[in-house]
Amino acid sequence: MQHFQAFDSAFAGIDHLTCYSVKACSNINILKLFLKEGSGTDIVSGGELHRSLMAGADPQKIVYSGVGKSCGEIIYALKSDILMFNAESPQEIDRINKIAGSLGTKGRIAIRVNPDVDPKTHTYISTGLKENKFGININEAYDEYIRAAKLENIDVVGVSCHLGSQLLDVTPFLDALKKVAELVKKLRAAGLTIKYLDIGGGLGITYDEETAPHPKDYGGKIIDSVRYLGGTLILEPGRVIAGNAGVLLSKVLYTKRNEGKKFTIVDAAMNDLLRPSLYGSFHRILEVSRKAAAKVSCDIVGPICESGDFIAKDRELPDFQPDDIICVMSAGAYGFTMSSNYNSRPRAAEVLVSGDSYKLIRKRETYEDIIRGEVDDK
Ligand code: LLP
Repeated sequence: MQHFQAFDSAFAGIDHLTCYSVKACSNINILKLFLKEGSGTDIVSGGELHRSLMAGADPQKIVYSGVGKSCGEIIYALKSDILMFNAESPQEIDRINKIAGSLGTKGRIAIRVNPDVDPKTHTYISTGLKENKFGININEAYDEYIRAAKLENIDVVGVSCHLGSQLLDVTPFLDALKKVAELVKKLRAAGLTIKYLDIGGGLGITYDEETAPHPKDYGGKIIDSVRYLGGTLILEPGRVIAGNAGVLLSKVLYTKRNEGKKFTIVDAAMNDLLRPSLYGSFHRILEVSRKAAAKVSCDIVGPICESGDFIAKDRELPDFQPDDIICVMSAGAYGFTMSSNYNSRPRAAEVLVSGDSYKLIRKRETYEDIIRGEVDDK
């Protein structure tokens, strides 16, 4: 909550709408907290639209990005009357136009432009380079806007972009905004109404020793560079709000040595927190239950049958023993939302903590939950 307020208040000086990025941490109890503060949501699927609506989001505060929106998802979003689609290809725009026509409505769109700016982050989570699959090349966007504006069931209302995630410097945002501002001016000169400027999410956080810009610093610089354009600024923060608000707790099962190397085997695994396995991400590990004096070099690994199943690698950590509880830090964003049932492991419970009170907001899954939906003909 504090992170949401810190972020949102950084933009208090300008007409803006913060659309919390649901993919970061999507439990409806979490969404409700931000909606109460006036947030909208940034969604990328029908499922995230469903969650947003279930949590009580105002459809006029929902923006929908993503390169592969299906017909069913477009119908759902049009019927829900969301604020706008961030459309990512000419074919998608045509499809929204066609479906909106058949529903007797209009689809409001921004075109997601790809500004070709290097966000200097992990390649898997960089999205604003011209070789990435996202958006329409900014140099081709003007012509596509002119084409889209002529479509009968399309209302062009904005421009959007998103550079990538875990950005630790404001400069790429400002570089992209310069390019986007030029486009906005050109489109307005051509008579198009561009009310919304959506600059996506991406602001990074501290996992280890890296320093991330404070939202106030980020907000101030963004405001300085876009204020003169007027309209409404839309922001889609995810990680900066949820990342350092959540931790993953896990119990040590065993310790062992293979070839002299210590492995601490815990009951959480890559199905619970995929980030270390997928991106080689660093998460700090703290001890909860016992203060072990000595430190040893070890890997923290899970029970999954893959050598890539690790939470931490080659780290100097307390000499954990069976039944110790460890706390994996900065797991609030892209933790539970990227978890799976791999190895038929029930997914973790989610608990909302506020001061010294807590509430269960998602039950730990059962074995029955795991096979629900599977058809047994016998
Ligand atoms: N808007 C769009 C269109 C996005 O694609 C994303 C994230 C966001 C907003 C929110 O970005 P944030 O403020 O959280 O950086 N699984 C990866 C991160 C993937 C981000 C995908 N898009 C990770 O664990 O690092």
